[in-house]
Amino acid sequence: MEHKRERPRTWHGRAPGRVNLIGEHVDYLGGVVLPAAIDRHTRVTGHKAREWSIESDVGGGLTYLRSIGIELEARPQAVVVESDVPPGSGLSSSAALLVAIAAGLHPDLNGVEAALTCQRAEQRATGVRVGVMDQFASALGRRGHALLLDCSTLEYRAVPFPEELVIAVIDSGEHRSLADTPYNERRREAEAGMPKRKRHVESEIARVHAFAAALEQHRFEKLGVLLKESHQSLRDDFEVSTPTVDALVEQAWGVEGCLGARIVGAGFGGSILALIERGRESSFAAGMKKEVIFCATADGAFAHKIKQVPD
Ligand code: GLA
Repeated sequence: MEHKRERPRTWHGRAPGRVNLIGEHVDYLGGVVLPAAIDRHTRVTGHKAREWSIESDVGGGLTYLRSIGIELEARPQAVVVESDVPPGSGLSSSAALLVAIAAGLHPDLNGVEAALTCQRAEQRATGVRVGVMDQFASALGRRGHALLLDCSTLEYRAVPFPEELVIAVIDSGEHRSLADTPYNERRREAEAGMPKRKRHVESEIARVHAFAAALEQHRFEKLGVLLKESHQSLRDDFEVSTPTVDALVEQAWGVEGCLGARIVGAGFGGSILALIERGRESSFAAGMKKEVIFCATADGAFAHKIKQVPD
């Protein structure tokens, strides 16, 4: 009799990229950050296989896949990836990939465990001692909100993101892999208390609290001022900007309808974030003369498991 081979069970996972409204280079020091998951997603489909494999338009995924496999103690899987999170531009495409795989392989995890597991996998894959912000936002972000996350306790609160504002992201065209940047060096200098680095960290954490308050009070101009100060601090004190990114940020500051802008994510190139008054999107894009990604906030991959409490 012919022996029928059972087809392996297929699993699916999906997770969003993220923007960080404010609180840059403070997560790995136990600071407070304010990221939001965005409506750009990575989808993965997989099944058990003899060895690990990945099919994706973006290279380099196998190392991430193996790393999350080790962290989840999973057997080898063949995985297919589809994503509209642009890689290398500061929207955390790698966190979206890791969280999507974790959600597919281990939907039973809670969001905090998933974020910590994916953070370890990212560190293992890249050798970069990243903080937990990106994975946390991708796992636990909430539609209509940003997350005010205390990275020392992992306590967090969803802060409503006003309807009147739109998040814009512009790629500087300077792409980098974190492993090729001085990220670890900046972290070491900050941990060692180097005065300039410390000044950025302390002032940035104060800005995060002020920003969350201004969001809640709909003081939109204040948001713009804080974004501008954050950029100056990242440029001058933490030294993670580049001339190309500075020029793009300054251009955005001058376009009508833009409340403020700054470098976003790890920096050393990547993207800028701007906050725009709703309705001004097309004139802003025209003023920038560059492709602008307008993002809405979205739910994280593990957000549905959380009992939603009223704001
Ligand atoms: C990268 C890291 C995060 C964080 C930011 C800078 O995105 O993955 O943990 O440190 O840089 O704020």
